[in-house]
Amino acid sequence: MSRYFENFPSSRPRRKRQSQWIRNLVSENSLSVNDLIWPIFICDGENIRDDVASMPGVHKYSIDRLNEAIDQAEDNKINLIAIFPNTPNDKKDENGTEALNQDNLVCKALREVKKQNLNLGIMCDVALDPYTLHGHDGILNDIGNISNDESNEVLVKQSLLLAEHKADIIAPSDMMDGRIGLIRNALESNDFKDTLLLSYAAKYASGFYGPFRDAVGSKNNLKTDKKTYQMDYANSDEALREVALDISEGADLIMVKPGISYLDIIQRLKNEFNFPTFAYQVSGEYAMVKAAAANGWIDEEKIVLEQLTSFKRAGADAILTYFALDIAKKINSIS
Ligand code: PBG
Repeated sequence: MSRYFENFPSSRPRRKRQSQWIRNLVSENSLSVNDLIWPIFICDGENIRDDVASMPGVHKYSIDRLNEAIDQAEDNKINLIAIFPNTPNDKKDENGTEALNQDNLVCKALREVKKQNLNLGIMCDVALDPYTLHGHDGILNDIGNISNDESNEVLVKQSLLLAEHKADIIAPSDMMDGRIGLIRNALESNDFKDTLLLSYAAKYASGFYGPFRDAVGSKNNLKTDKKTYQMDYANSDEALREVALDISEGADLIMVKPGISYLDIIQRLKNEFNFPTFAYQVSGEYAMVKAAAANGWIDEEKIVLEQLTSFKRAGADAILTYFALDIAKKINSIS
Protein backbone atom coordinates (compact mmCIF):
# COMPACT_ATOMS: atom_id res chain seq x y z
CA MET A 1 0.00 0.00 0.00
CA SER A 2 1.45 3.26 -1.14
CA ARG A 3 0.70 5.13 2.06
CA TYR A 4 3.44 3.17 3.77
CA PHE A 5 5.98 4.62 1.36
CA GLU A 6 5.16 8.26 1.91
CA ASN A 7 8.07 9.96 3.52
CA PHE A 8 9.21 13.18 5.01
CA PRO A 9 8.55 15.97 4.17
CA SER A 10 5.63 15.00 1.93
CA SER A 11 4.30 13.13 4.91
CA ARG A 12 4.28 15.05 8.18
CA PRO A 13 1.98 13.18 10.60
CA ARG A 14 1.99 16.17 12.92
CA ARG A 15 -0.12 18.16 10.43
CA LYS A 16 -3.09 16.13 11.58
CA ARG A 17 -2.37 16.81 15.25
CA GLN A 18 -1.89 20.55 15.19
CA SER A 19 -5.24 21.61 16.61
CA GLN A 20 -8.18 20.10 18.40
CA TRP A 21 -10.61 20.35 15.46
CA ILE A 22 -8.40 18.29 13.15
CA ARG A 23 -7.61 15.84 15.93
CA ASN A 24 -11.35 15.45 16.40
CA LEU A 25 -11.86 14.75 12.71
CA VAL A 26 -9.22 12.03 12.48
CA SER A 27 -10.01 10.48 15.86
CA GLU A 28 -10.64 6.74 15.45
CA ASN A 29 -12.45 5.97 18.70
CA SER A 30 -14.53 7.80 21.22
CA LEU A 31 -16.19 7.15 24.51
CA SER A 32 -19.86 7.86 25.10
CA VAL A 33 -22.27 7.36 27.97
CA ASN A 34 -23.70 4.47 25.95
CA ASP A 35 -20.48 2.59 26.64
CA LEU A 36 -20.77 2.70 30.43
CA ILE A 37 -22.13 0.16 32.87
CA TRP A 38 -22.26 1.13 36.54
CA PRO A 39 -21.78 -1.47 39.31
CA ILE A 40 -23.64 -0.75 42.56
CA PHE A 41 -23.26 -2.50 45.91
CA ILE A 42 -26.27 -3.14 48.11
CA CYS A 43 -26.39 -4.13 51.78
CA ASP A 44 -28.74 -5.15 54.55
CA GLY A 45 -30.27 -2.68 56.98
CA GLU A 46 -31.99 0.65 56.71
CA ASN A 47 -30.97 4.15 55.81
CA ILE A 48 -27.45 3.11 54.89
CA ARG A 49 -25.08 4.63 52.37
CA ASP A 50 -21.73 3.43 53.64
CA ASP A 51 -18.34 3.99 52.12
CA VAL A 52 -16.38 1.02 50.83
CA ALA A 53 -13.04 1.62 52.53
CA SER A 54 -10.80 0.28 49.78
CA MET A 55 -12.82 1.99 47.04
CA PRO A 56 -13.08 5.71 47.84
CA GLY A 57 -16.20 7.21 46.26
CA VAL A 58 -17.99 3.85 46.06
CA HIS A 59 -20.86 3.18 48.45
CA LYS A 60 -23.02 0.35 49.71
CA TYR A 61 -26.73 1.22 49.70
CA SER A 62 -29.47 -0.34 51.75
CA ILE A 63 -32.50 -1.11 49.59
CA ASP A 64 -34.49 1.85 50.97
CA ARG A 65 -31.80 4.22 49.68
CA LEU A 66 -30.99 2.43 46.45
CA ASN A 67 -33.10 4.94 44.55
CA GLU A 68 -30.50 7.59 45.24
CA ALA A 69 -28.16 5.65 42.99
CA ILE A 70 -30.85 4.69 40.50
CA ASP A 71 -31.88 8.33 40.10
CA GLN A 72 -28.31 9.32 39.38
CA ALA A 73 -27.96 6.53 36.82
CA GLU A 74 -31.14 7.68 35.11
CA ASP A 75 -30.31 11.39 35.23
CA ASN A 76 -26.97 10.66 33.61
CA LYS A 77 -28.44 8.36 30.94
CA ILE A 78 -26.60 5.26 32.04
CA ASN A 79 -28.17 2.25 30.29
CA LEU A 80 -27.26 -0.55 32.62
CA ILE A 81 -26.39 -1.04 36.25
CA ALA A 82 -24.93 -4.18 37.82
CA ILE A 83 -26.06 -5.02 41.33
CA PHE A 84 -23.78 -6.78 43.81
CA PRO A 85 -24.92 -7.77 47.31
CA ASN A 86 -23.01 -7.52 50.56
CA THR A 87 -24.68 -10.39 52.38
CA PRO A 88 -24.37 -10.42 56.18
CA ASN A 89 -22.19 -13.30 57.39
CA ASP A 90 -25.02 -14.82 59.41
CA LYS A 91 -26.92 -15.42 56.17
CA LYS A 92 -23.99 -17.24 54.57
CA ASP A 93 -23.45 -20.97 54.72
CA GLU A 94 -21.29 -23.65 53.09
CA ASN A 95 -23.58 -24.05 50.08
CA GLY A 96 -24.63 -20.45 49.56
CA THR A 97 -28.31 -21.26 50.01
CA GLU A 98 -29.10 -17.55 50.50
CA ALA A 99 -28.54 -17.23 46.73
CA LEU A 100 -31.84 -19.08 46.29
CA ASN A 101 -33.81 -17.10 48.85
CA GLN A 102 -36.41 -14.98 47.12
CA ASP A 103 -36.02 -12.44 49.89
CA ASN A 104 -32.28 -12.05 49.48
CA LEU A 105 -30.86 -8.60 48.85
CA VAL A 106 -30.70 -8.89 45.08
CA CYS A 107 -34.29 -10.10 44.74
CA LYS A 108 -35.49 -7.32 47.03
CA ALA A 109 -33.60 -4.77 44.98
CA LEU A 110 -35.03 -6.15 41.74
CA ARG A 111 -38.57 -5.95 43.10
CA GLU A 112 -37.98 -2.40 44.23
CA VAL A 113 -36.43 -1.14 41.01
CA LYS A 114 -38.49 -3.14 38.53
CA LYS A 115 -41.81 -1.84 39.85
CA GLN A 116 -40.72 1.62 38.70
CA ASN A 117 -40.67 0.63 35.03
CA LEU A 118 -37.55 2.59 34.24
CA ASN A 119 -35.66 2.62 31.00
CA LEU A 120 -32.67 1.14 32.77
CA GLY A 121 -31.27 -2.37 32.42
CA ILE A 122 -30.35 -4.34 35.51
CA MET A 123 -27.67 -6.95 35.45
CA CYS A 124 -27.14 -9.50 38.20
CA ASP A 125 -24.20 -11.79 38.80
CA VAL A 126 -24.66 -15.50 38.98
CA ALA A 127 -22.10 -16.98 41.37
CA LEU A 128 -22.19 -18.10 44.97
CA ASP A 129 -19.33 -16.09 46.46
CA PRO A 130 -21.51 -13.41 48.07
CA TYR A 131 -23.40 -16.20 49.84
CA THR A 132 -20.85 -18.84 50.84
CA LEU A 133 -18.92 -18.90 54.11
CA HIS A 134 -15.80 -20.01 52.24
CA GLY A 135 -16.13 -17.17 49.71
CA HIS A 136 -15.89 -19.40 46.64
CA ASP A 137 -18.16 -19.11 43.62
CA GLY A 138 -19.36 -22.71 43.75
CA ILE A 139 -19.98 -25.69 46.00
CA LEU A 140 -17.00 -27.26 47.77
CA ASN A 141 -16.73 -31.06 47.86
CA ASP A 142 -15.34 -33.18 50.74
CA ILE A 143 -11.74 -32.60 49.76
CA GLY A 144 -12.12 -28.85 49.37
CA ASN A 145 -12.39 -28.66 45.57
CA ILE A 146 -15.11 -26.76 43.76
CA SER A 147 -17.49 -29.34 42.36
CA ASN A 148 -18.38 -28.19 38.85
CA ASP A 149 -21.60 -30.04 38.18
CA GLU A 150 -22.99 -29.69 41.68
CA SER A 151 -22.31 -25.96 41.48
CA ASN A 152 -24.07 -25.76 38.12
CA GLU A 153 -27.27 -27.12 39.62
CA VAL A 154 -27.38 -24.25 42.09
CA LEU A 155 -26.32 -21.66 39.52
CA VAL A 156 -29.19 -22.70 37.25
CA LYS A 157 -31.64 -22.23 40.13
CA GLN A 158 -30.10 -18.89 41.00
CA SER A 159 -30.48 -17.79 37.37
CA LEU A 160 -34.13 -18.78 37.25
CA LEU A 161 -34.81 -16.89 40.46
CA LEU A 162 -33.18 -13.77 39.01
CA ALA A 163 -35.14 -14.15 35.76
CA GLU A 164 -38.38 -14.48 37.74
CA HIS A 165 -37.49 -11.22 39.41
CA LYS A 166 -37.06 -9.61 36.01
CA ALA A 167 -33.30 -9.22 35.93
CA ASP A 168 -32.62 -8.00 32.39
CA ILE A 169 -29.17 -9.52 32.11
CA ILE A 170 -28.03 -12.59 33.94
CA ALA A 171 -24.28 -12.66 34.24
CA PRO A 172 -22.61 -15.88 35.34
CA SER A 173 -19.24 -14.88 36.74
CA ASP A 174 -18.40 -18.22 38.33
CA MET A 175 -16.40 -19.85 35.49
CA MET A 176 -17.93 -23.30 35.92
CA ASP A 177 -17.81 -25.44 32.77
CA GLY A 178 -21.07 -25.88 30.90
CA ARG A 179 -23.15 -23.48 32.94
CA ILE A 180 -24.08 -21.19 30.06
CA GLY A 181 -25.75 -24.03 28.16
CA LEU A 182 -27.56 -25.29 31.25
CA ILE A 183 -28.77 -21.81 32.20
CA ARG A 184 -29.85 -21.03 28.64
CA ASN A 185 -31.86 -24.28 28.46
CA ALA A 186 -33.49 -23.61 31.80
CA LEU A 187 -34.42 -20.08 30.75
CA GLU A 188 -35.86 -21.31 27.44
CA SER A 189 -37.91 -24.06 29.00
CA ASN A 190 -39.27 -21.75 31.67
CA ASP A 191 -40.43 -19.14 29.21
CA PHE A 192 -37.68 -16.62 29.89
CA LYS A 193 -36.84 -16.36 26.22
CA ASP A 194 -35.89 -12.70 26.33
CA THR A 195 -33.55 -12.81 29.30
CA LEU A 196 -30.09 -11.79 28.17
CA LEU A 197 -27.15 -13.91 29.18
CA LEU A 198 -23.81 -12.23 29.60
CA SER A 199 -21.03 -14.69 30.16
CA TYR A 200 -17.95 -13.70 32.06
CA ALA A 201 -16.33 -15.97 29.51
CA ALA A 202 -12.74 -14.87 29.97
CA LYS A 203 -12.38 -14.24 33.65
CA TYR A 204 -8.90 -14.51 35.03
CA ALA A 205 -7.68 -15.52 38.50
CA SER A 206 -6.53 -12.04 39.35
CA GLY A 207 -5.00 -10.04 42.13
CA PHE A 208 -7.14 -7.10 41.06
CA TYR A 209 -10.34 -8.27 42.78
CA GLY A 210 -9.28 -7.51 46.36
CA PRO A 211 -11.33 -4.38 47.03
CA PHE A 212 -14.47 -6.00 45.56
CA ARG A 213 -14.13 -8.90 47.97
CA ASP A 214 -13.98 -6.28 50.68
CA ALA A 215 -17.14 -4.65 49.38
CA VAL A 216 -19.18 -7.85 49.22
CA GLY A 217 -17.67 -9.13 52.47
CA SER A 218 -16.03 -12.28 51.12
CA LYS A 219 -12.41 -11.26 51.61
CA ASN A 220 -11.90 -12.58 55.12
CA ASN A 221 -13.82 -15.76 54.36
CA LEU A 222 -11.76 -16.71 51.34
CA LYS A 223 -8.81 -18.83 52.43
CA THR A 224 -7.67 -20.23 49.07
CA ASP A 225 -7.35 -18.78 45.57
CA LYS A 226 -9.72 -19.34 42.65
CA LYS A 227 -7.18 -20.78 40.24
CA THR A 228 -9.00 -24.08 39.73
CA TYR A 229 -11.84 -22.28 37.95
CA GLN A 230 -10.73 -18.78 36.94
CA MET A 231 -8.23 -18.58 34.09
CA ASP A 232 -4.45 -18.41 34.25
CA TYR A 233 -3.37 -14.90 33.34
CA ALA A 234 -0.53 -16.32 31.26
CA ASN A 235 -3.07 -17.60 28.73
CA SER A 236 -4.70 -16.05 25.72
CA ASP A 237 -5.61 -18.92 23.30
CA GLU A 238 -7.59 -20.38 26.18
CA ALA A 239 -9.80 -17.28 26.21
CA LEU A 240 -10.76 -18.00 22.61
CA ARG A 241 -11.76 -21.52 23.51
CA GLU A 242 -13.77 -20.36 26.53
CA VAL A 243 -15.63 -17.79 24.47
CA ALA A 244 -16.28 -20.20 21.59
CA LEU A 245 -17.90 -22.58 24.07
CA ASP A 246 -20.02 -19.92 25.71
CA ILE A 247 -21.26 -18.49 22.42
CA SER A 248 -22.18 -21.97 21.21
CA GLU A 249 -23.97 -22.61 24.51
CA GLY A 250 -26.15 -19.53 24.12
CA ALA A 251 -24.42 -16.46 25.55
CA ASP A 252 -25.67 -13.15 24.11
CA LEU A 253 -22.76 -11.09 25.35
CA ILE A 254 -19.29 -11.87 26.55
CA MET A 255 -17.13 -10.20 29.17
CA VAL A 256 -13.39 -9.94 29.70
CA LYS A 257 -12.21 -9.39 33.24
CA PRO A 258 -10.09 -7.68 34.58
CA GLY A 259 -9.65 -4.80 32.16
CA ILE A 260 -6.55 -2.80 31.47
CA SER A 261 -4.07 -5.67 31.77
CA TYR A 262 -6.22 -7.68 29.35
CA LEU A 263 -6.69 -5.35 26.38
CA ASP A 264 -4.95 -7.90 24.15
CA ILE A 265 -7.61 -10.44 25.08
CA ILE A 266 -10.41 -8.02 24.22
CA GLN A 267 -8.82 -7.32 20.86
CA ARG A 268 -8.30 -10.98 20.00
CA LEU A 269 -11.84 -11.92 20.98
CA LYS A 270 -13.37 -9.07 19.05
CA ASN A 271 -11.36 -9.89 15.95
CA GLU A 272 -12.09 -13.60 16.17
CA PHE A 273 -15.81 -13.59 17.03
CA ASN A 274 -17.24 -10.18 16.08
CA PHE A 275 -19.48 -10.63 19.07
CA PRO A 276 -20.64 -8.00 21.59
CA THR A 277 -17.69 -7.87 23.96
CA PHE A 278 -17.77 -6.08 27.28
CA ALA A 279 -14.85 -5.29 29.56
CA TYR A 280 -14.77 -5.06 33.34
CA GLN A 281 -12.46 -2.48 34.84
CA VAL A 282 -12.35 -4.13 38.24
CA SER A 283 -12.09 -2.92 41.80
CA GLY A 284 -8.30 -3.13 42.10
CA GLU A 285 -7.88 -1.02 38.99
CA TYR A 286 -10.26 1.54 40.45
CA ALA A 287 -8.51 1.56 43.82
CA MET A 288 -5.09 2.06 42.23
CA VAL A 289 -6.21 5.10 40.27
CA LYS A 290 -7.97 6.56 43.29
CA ALA A 291 -5.00 6.05 45.59
CA ALA A 292 -2.51 7.60 43.19
CA ALA A 293 -4.86 10.51 42.49
CA ALA A 294 -5.42 11.10 46.21
CA ASN A 295 -1.67 11.45 46.59
CA GLY A 296 -1.56 13.97 43.79
CA TRP A 297 0.59 11.64 41.70
CA ILE A 298 -1.79 11.44 38.73
CA ASP A 299 -4.75 13.37 37.38
CA GLU A 300 -7.69 11.04 37.96
CA GLU A 301 -9.95 12.30 35.20
CA LYS A 302 -7.22 12.27 32.58
CA ILE A 303 -6.15 8.76 33.49
CA VAL A 304 -9.69 7.40 33.55
CA LEU A 305 -10.63 8.90 30.18
CA GLU A 306 -7.43 7.50 28.71
CA GLN A 307 -8.08 4.06 30.16
CA LEU A 308 -11.73 3.91 29.11
CA THR A 309 -10.87 5.06 25.59
CA SER A 310 -8.20 2.34 25.47
CA PHE A 311 -10.92 -0.23 26.08
CA LYS A 312 -12.80 1.17 23.08
CA ARG A 313 -9.65 1.12 20.98
CA ALA A 314 -9.09 -2.54 21.89
CA GLY A 315 -12.62 -3.33 20.69
CA ALA A 316 -14.80 -3.32 23.79
CA ASP A 317 -18.43 -2.42 23.12
CA ALA A 318 -19.15 -1.44 26.70
CA ILE A 319 -17.22 -1.11 29.93
CA LEU A 320 -18.29 -1.99 33.41
CA THR A 321 -16.50 0.53 35.61
CA TYR A 322 -16.83 2.04 39.07
CA PHE A 323 -16.01 5.34 37.37
CA ALA A 324 -19.15 5.11 35.20
CA LEU A 325 -21.17 7.74 37.01
CA ASP A 326 -18.34 10.27 37.26
CA ILE A 327 -17.43 9.87 33.62
CA ALA A 328 -21.05 9.99 32.49
CA LYS A 329 -21.42 13.29 34.36
CA LYS A 330 -18.27 14.59 32.73
CA ILE A 331 -19.35 13.55 29.22
CA ASN A 332 -22.86 14.92 29.73
CA SER A 333 -21.52 18.24 30.95
CA ILE A 334 -19.53 18.84 27.78
CA SER A 335 -21.94 17.51 25.17
C1 PBG B 1 -17.27 -13.10 41.84
C2 PBG B 1 -16.99 -11.76 41.32
C3 PBG B 1 -15.80 -11.08 41.57
C4 PBG B 1 -15.91 -9.85 40.95
C5 PBG B 1 -17.15 -9.78 40.33
N1 PBG B 1 -17.82 -10.99 40.55
C6 PBG B 1 -14.64 -11.44 42.41
C7 PBG B 1 -14.02 -12.74 42.32
O1 PBG B 1 -14.07 -13.43 41.30
O2 PBG B 1 -13.45 -13.12 43.33
C8 PBG B 1 -14.82 -8.83 41.00
C9 PBG B 1 -15.12 -7.49 40.53
C10 PBG B 1 -14.16 -6.46 40.93
O3 PBG B 1 -13.05 -6.73 41.44
O4 PBG B 1 -14.50 -5.29 40.73
N2 PBG B 1 -18.20 -13.87 41.29
